[in-house]
Amino acid sequence: MFKTMNIFRLCTLKHMRLLLLMNTLIFLVLLFTLYISFTHSEKNFNSGNKFDEKQLTLNIIENRLQKLQQALKNRFPSAVDYIDVHVKHDLPTIYAITPTYKRWTQKADLTRLGQTLLHVPNFRWIVVEDSNEKTALVTNFLKFSGLQYTHLNAKTDQNYKLKSTDPNWLLPRGVAQRNKGLTWIRKNLSPHNNGILYFLDDDNTYSLRVFEEMRSTEVASVWPVGLSGGLKFEGPGKCKDGKVLEWYTAWKPERPFPIDMAGFAVNLKLLFKYSEAEYSNDAPRGYLESHFLTGLKLKRHDMEAKADNCSKVLVWHTRTEKPKMKQEEALIRQGKSSNSEMEV
Ligand code: UGA
Ligand code: MN
Repeated sequence: MFKTMNIFRLCTLKHMRLLLLMNTLIFLVLLFTLYISFTHSEKNFNSGNKFDEKQLTLNIIENRLQKLQQALKNRFPSAVDYIDVHVKHDLPTIYAITPTYKRWTQKADLTRLGQTLLHVPNFRWIVVEDSNEKTALVTNFLKFSGLQYTHLNAKTDQNYKLKSTDPNWLLPRGVAQRNKGLTWIRKNLSPHNNGILYFLDDDNTYSLRVFEEMRSTEVASVWPVGLSGGLKFEGPGKCKDGKVLEWYTAWKPERPFPIDMAGFAVNLKLLFKYSEAEYSNDAPRGYLESHFLTGLKLKRHDMEAKADNCSKVLVWHTRTEKPKMKQEEALIRQGKSSNSEMEV
């Protein structure tokens, strides 16, 4: 009996131990799962925190960018739109050289032209003043223009400068200024720059399409210029498959290129290949453009016809009427000008 009781006790004890062991094991597993789930949620909590931090930094940067854009817009109204919309990296840049000189209508002409140019993508305006010093008028005009520009100056040699009483055809205009612009391009760019060169007079009228036409110039291109040479238009008159078949001109038709300054563009590569080509004050009258183009070793048949096979006028040789300023000038002479600070 005693023996059976002993065996029974022993068995219960073993059972108890097993139970205890199992309980401890379950407890440990529970503890482990609890620990794992806790550390996991901790991790989530931390990464959530980091995510929020990043989002916050992004918001701050975005806010700052908006403020900067607003500040830039306040100072240069068109700059932000210009940068956003117009800087397209895959387009060749048009480098346009414009000579300009002091006169009553200078700011009006520059304003009209500058606002056209704001619509032209990938464009650098090289403005060259006919003066010993850069003037405040042009400096400020360019600063607030919203355009990408280079401001230079080169005074026309006194021997070649027109007097106000001279007829304007007597001497060539814009020679020293265009040459200064060419020197800047050759110094600051390279044949690897994907670019097109164009000469813009400050008083002509330019359709936006003419810039898109010239952008694909491989060597040199031409198109008709309206109201030029005493005709409806001057330059290429009949074209087929991108080649000029006939030239339309009435005056000195024997000129190598019977065209106006606004009627051609050349690829920058050519400018570097013939690094001496430039304008000359000594070119015979009407030969300004021809002298430059023959300096680039171009012949009439090299020219690529643009503007729908030269069937469209996209640029006009307009001239701004000289205003009659008798009264203002009389007041200035008497020291009684209405407002000497007023920039016109
Ligand atoms: C025409 C052509 O369109 C010009 O490209 C060319 O230079 C000129 O003839 C010429 O044969 O020399 P036109 O309207 O008669 O042009 O000339 P302007 O518009 O008076 O002058 C052409 C450019 O030179 C303008 O951008 C003008 O601002 C500038 N210019 C004119 C000067 O820089 N200095 C001057 O004393 C006069
Ligand atoms: Mn003109």
